[in-house]
Amino acid sequence: MYDLKKIRSDFPMLNGKVMQGHPLVYLDNAATTFKPKVVLNAIEAYYNDYTANAHRGDYDLTHTVDVKFDEARETVADFIHAEKEEIVFTSGTSMSLNMVAYGYGAKYLKKGDEILLTQAEHASNVLPWFKVAEMTGAKIGYIPLDKEGRLTVESLKKTITAKTKVVAVAHVTNVLGFTVDIKALAKVVHEFGAIIVVDGAQSVPHLKTDVKDLDCDFLAFSGHKMCGPTGIGVLYGKYALLQKTDPFMTGGGMNARFDMCGEVSYLQPPFKFEAGTQNIEGVLGLAAAIKYLQGIGLDAVAAHEHELRAYAISEMKKLDNVILYNEKAEAGIITFNLKGVFGQDAATYFNSRGVAVRSGNHCAKILLTFLNTSNTLRASLYLYTSKEDVDALIEACKKGGDFLDAYFN
Ligand code: ALA
Repeated sequence: MYDLKKIRSDFPMLNGKVMQGHPLVYLDNAATTFKPKVVLNAIEAYYNDYTANAHRGDYDLTHTVDVKFDEARETVADFIHAEKEEIVFTSGTSMSLNMVAYGYGAKYLKKGDEILLTQAEHASNVLPWFKVAEMTGAKIGYIPLDKEGRLTVESLKKTITAKTKVVAVAHVTNVLGFTVDIKALAKVVHEFGAIIVVDGAQSVPHLKTDVKDLDCDFLAFSGHKMCGPTGIGVLYGKYALLQKTDPFMTGGGMNARFDMCGEVSYLQPPFKFEAGTQNIEGVLGLAAAIKYLQGIGLDAVAAHEHELRAYAISEMKKLDNVILYNEKAEAGIITFNLKGVFGQDAATYFNSRGVAVRSGNHCAKILLTFLNTSNTLRASLYLYTSKEDVDALIEACKKGGDFLDAYFN
């Protein structure tokens, strides 16, 4: 039984907060999520009870930190069915994707090679590849989306060539919320001898992820979108690929030795990618967030989101003034506009009713030409979203085109 009341009570941000004099209705979970007390407690315990650096000292306190840091890596590995050595801590999805682009792409791509993306990608999975293409002479190509905005394996098959060396796509797209069949894509990509890099920022927090089953080569995700702290993320890579990948940053903690002539040897992955003092509180907070989500069960979280989404869609479809862009999406992301109202104006009006949604292009700027609009509203759900939250969204939508009168009178 899904105990929403208990779940909501775990989050201090859901404890009677108001916005513009209204109870806060937070529907921007694709941007970031609230943190349960267990995560805050884990961070506080590190600062109150056992502060020390990790992998640096020979005294008891550092040993405690080392053990907890190591356990956290195991927790993350277990969460996505990876090996512990395949988990690199980063600052978030953007850094993880940049690490692959510069550490692998810039090293192995050459003139004439091709990098395939889609129009639905977030800037973090486009701009690093633009840079790498500029550096290496490789070309960027796009796998066409179908009419609805989905990436299909058929479309990949029509686009991929012997020149394709990297396919970089999101598992769940951040604007339309469509789930991509990564396993089927990976099979095709591997038949062509290329690698598949997966942006898991919007999938790992919501879907059970098994990297072995997906057979993806790299997977990037962020802690803050899954109840963890900001500034912590993960790069998963198949171990053999991590060994072949250059570190994005060098410094302390990632080298075995170096001499005055510039001879350097790096540690083995994951350590060769973790230069400098790590975000220890972030790592420990992320592990606490994962354990919290595992305690509830990701299948239960997904079922809750699906039920609420179905309800929201059925209510929004009754409204003549709502344009829906992703009625059939699998993820808890609803992208829409109010007819005749600029998205950011509508979001400001929603704010005046205590409802937080994101508006704009959501960092997926090349999707806009596909959607044929300059701006959308995005409501995104998570494990603690309630039917009352959705009702507040629907009520706000009902104001529709006359909202400017309502807002300014
Ligand atoms: N990448 C986050 C989003 O899609 C910020 O909102």
